[in-house]
Amino acid sequence: MTSTSAPSPVRFLTGITTTGTPHLGNYVGSVRHSVRFSRRADVQSFYFLADYHALIKVDEPARIQRSTLEIAASWLACGLDPERVTFYRQSDIPEIPELTWFLTCVTGKGILNRAHAYKASVDKNTAKGEDPDADVSAGLFMYPVLMGADILLFNAHKVPVGRDQVQHIEMARDMAQRFNHLYGEHFTLPEAEIDDAVATLPGLDGRKMSKSYDNTIPLFTPRAQLQKLIGGIVTDSRAPGEPKDTEGSALFQIYQAFADAEETLALRKAYAEGIAWGDAKQVVFERIDREIAPMRAHYEALLNDPAQIERILLAGAEKARALSHPFIGRLRHAVGLRKLEAPAAAVVAKSAKVARPSFKQYRESDGRFYFKLLDANGDLLLQSRAFASPQEAGRAIGALQQRPQEALATLAEQLEPVDNEGMRAATDALEVLALSASGG
Ligand code: TRP
Repeated sequence: MTSTSAPSPVRFLTGITTTGTPHLGNYVGSVRHSVRFSRRADVQSFYFLADYHALIKVDEPARIQRSTLEIAASWLACGLDPERVTFYRQSDIPEIPELTWFLTCVTGKGILNRAHAYKASVDKNTAKGEDPDADVSAGLFMYPVLMGADILLFNAHKVPVGRDQVQHIEMARDMAQRFNHLYGEHFTLPEAEIDDAVATLPGLDGRKMSKSYDNTIPLFTPRAQLQKLIGGIVTDSRAPGEPKDTEGSALFQIYQAFADAEETLALRKAYAEGIAWGDAKQVVFERIDREIAPMRAHYEALLNDPAQIERILLAGAEKARALSHPFIGRLRHAVGLRKLEAPAAAVVAKSAKVARPSFKQYRESDGRFYFKLLDANGDLLLQSRAFASPQEAGRAIGALQQRPQEALATLAEQLEPVDNEGMRAATDALEVLALSASGG
């Protein structure tokens, strides 16, 4: 149902909770891949720092601030282009908590009882013979709704997540369906995107690299510290000259995540020939440092200029809010939080008799095709951007006439932006047209 000549891009959205310092596991498992992916022409990416989520887990303000800075600097240093993607901080988008409330009101409490993170806490308490909800905040309980709001506010199609988050995406779908059912087609139903090809990295002790095991190597730790940490990766006790197993070697797996096929083969051979662990660690260290060092310099420069990161995030928030602000206006209207002077029912009742809003389609001197939506007085409500053909413009008009709410969301980029008030007026007018077309 798209009206541009190129297929409309698929919208990807991911949040990163701001509770820690990015480590090599995050880089290999997510950042590196996401940055590469975000450069594709057929995707539109939203990356945000989930600092509201961080409040659920961390009650140290300084740590949240520091983590926000470090994660933002890391993504930028790794090549995320804030011009290309929409990169923002969750707490700069007031529409997220507002939508969280709307979704809270359409989410069954019983569904939230079954959320993994909440259930795990309850099970732990029960096993200890304590009150099931001991030390469980309402924030933890509501976590899936906040996450649903993150996703639905931008009508994301795909949400790249780890397997542990799939349930949350399914819950977001349920919320979207329920809301759409009650109030009209507003939300795209999101899907989880699980990339099994992306490696999980072992940590210093050989278990999965994770903050909770305290076995991480910070992504941008200084060179000398990186060398020291790699020196501490567990190995077996085989002496120099004894052949080593690559199977089950954390050091080898970490190397593999950075090296190309040829380099990997060379280290495999060195293992078989009995390379000393100290020498193998030196090879791994140099290889990782070769990839990280140029980005590390950029990272350090960014960390020393928090004002620049602040500016980038605020610009990202502005870009995000150009979508979320008018959208929440439509959602407010849909649920009945409306201005009192123009009750929708009365407008609709009169619509059959009074002058109606209308579409005007035309060609500009640039040779491209446009349309406007005018209200009954001939005042401009919506202005389209350029279409390559009159058929495409016509299809967009058709969509707006038949399914106003949904079309306004999917056509957002083919329309000149309007403010909240303007969007409400346009929505009203389109509903009048839709109703009168269906004989209402
Ligand atoms: N809950 C996610 C995590 O812990 C972070 C997150 C918050 C998120 N909001 C999101 C991920 C929206 C994807 C989409 O990893």
